[in-house]
Amino acid sequence: MRKYVIAGNWKMNKIVAESVTLAQEIVEVAKNISKVEIVISPTYLATAKVADAVKGSNVKVAVQDVHFEDQGAYTGKVSVDMVKELGVEYVIVGHSEQRQYFGETNETVNKKVKKVLEAGLKPIICIGETLDERNAGKLEDVLSAQINGAYANISNTDALKTIIAYEPVWAIGTGVVATESQAQEAHVIVRSFLKKLYGSSVADSITIQYGGSMNASNAGGLLQQNDIDGGLIGGASLQAESFIAIVEAAEKIA
Ligand code: PGA
Repeated sequence: MRKYVIAGNWKMNKIVAESVTLAQEIVEVAKNISKVEIVISPTYLATAKVADAVKGSNVKVAVQDVHFEDQGAYTGKVSVDMVKELGVEYVIVGHSEQRQYFGETNETVNKKVKKVLEAGLKPIICIGETLDERNAGKLEDVLSAQINGAYANISNTDALKTIIAYEPVWAIGTGVVATESQAQEAHVIVRSFLKKLYGSSVADSITIQYGGSMNASNAGGLLQQNDIDGGLIGGASLQAESFIAIVEAAEKIA
């Protein structure tokens, strides 16, 4: 059975002190949550203190990216060993903002996925089409290229440790959420590509999150869809109240 995973992507928001406060608020509520994996992803700077704040709880920590090299002259970058040392379990890879603004490609996503898995961490692999691509009828082509790219030379066993976040780019940070049927339809397509690569039993075990303007009011309907197994949440993860409401909606459905 697939695990529901609700992850908060805090992006470039919150100084360290604010991050710790939010983490503590989430830990409190997480005590009553048993069926949903809760993940929070602060900035690198807040990672160590947030990891301390959630220690001993069922809240896990992610970072928003890593470099695919082990170490060296890569100004501004952070390696998997550096984040692992802090107690991080998940790494967001290939977020559309990385693809859009920082030159992330399907090839660099694949390198990062391999590095993350090698380190014993779990990648949350972000994919999704732009509005132009959707309108041009390229949804399947884009998703297929992103999935085949991300999973190139990844074994069945390793694929089982991954999570996919399907995030239509036009829904991210825009307040325009995909309808339940648009999201479910895309998730079915994503799972069908995973089936081609790994067969049904692996594909049916991989958690596929929806991301893009998910909030407390639309989460329940989205999470009820058969192939939507969680959420990657940006804006609504920045306040404890709205993030927790999404976690609780998932707990009810899980
Ligand atoms: P959003 O961001 O919830 O603010 O749309 C989602 C994401 O970028 O992961």
